[in-house]
Amino acid sequence: MNPIIAPSILASDFANLQSEVEMLEKSQADWLHIDIMDGRFVPNISFGFPVMEAIKRHATKPMDVHLMIVEPELYIERFRAAGADTISVHIEACNHLHRTIQQIKATGAKAGVAVNPHTSVQLLDDVIADLDLVCLMSVNPGFGGQKFIENTYRKIEALKNLIEARNSKALIEVDGGVNENNASLLLDKGANVLVAGNFVFSSADPIQTIADLKKSSN
Ligand code: DX5
Ligand code: ZN
Repeated sequence: MNPIIAPSILASDFANLQSEVEMLEKSQADWLHIDIMDGRFVPNISFGFPVMEAIKRHATKPMDVHLMIVEPELYIERFRAAGADTISVHIEACNHLHRTIQQIKATGAKAGVAVNPHTSVQLLDDVIADLDLVCLMSVNPGFGGQKFIENTYRKIEALKNLIEARNSKALIEVDGGVNENNASLLLDKGANVLVAGNFVFSSADPIQTIADLKKSSN
């Protein structure tokens, strides 16, 4: 199966956001990955609702919103109203993860859970059947352009087994340090969605880079 490619807007040129979004619209990108950072869950602040709404004005492709924020339950409805199609919350940021997943689904958005590199995917055992997406962090969240953590391959395999055992339809998304060198092996292990920030936006020809990622196969 061809992977779903989700370029991360975080690595785009914020001063030319409209043309960056138009470029993604023309490309083979499937989703737009939107990284929201609050300076509390992660040691960085990215952008919030006004910027997301500005992106939405130029985007027809689904918006895959990755919330790296504490107390995400306070903002789920607002992210949905701002155009989110999928909303992922961090397991490490949720005291009542089951409730927050139901809250996301009640808005009509797809529900995702993101897991940090240190967090075992086995902790998703009791919610995996309810999820549309699991976002495996292959770097410690907070910044684009970091080095891919190799242990991610093992986690993909464990997560795939869990998804099959629980009859879940969740897609496996890998986020952080994805590039031409690891894309095929990630898909081979069972990833369905590849997020790529720097690899796409720092390349000479982002449209071609996205096409190349789309072609990488297992
Ligand atoms: C990291 C973000 C990632 C990041 C990916 O905190 O969640 O989505 O933007 O960027 P690259 O591909 O440059 O690692
Ligand atoms: Zn992300």
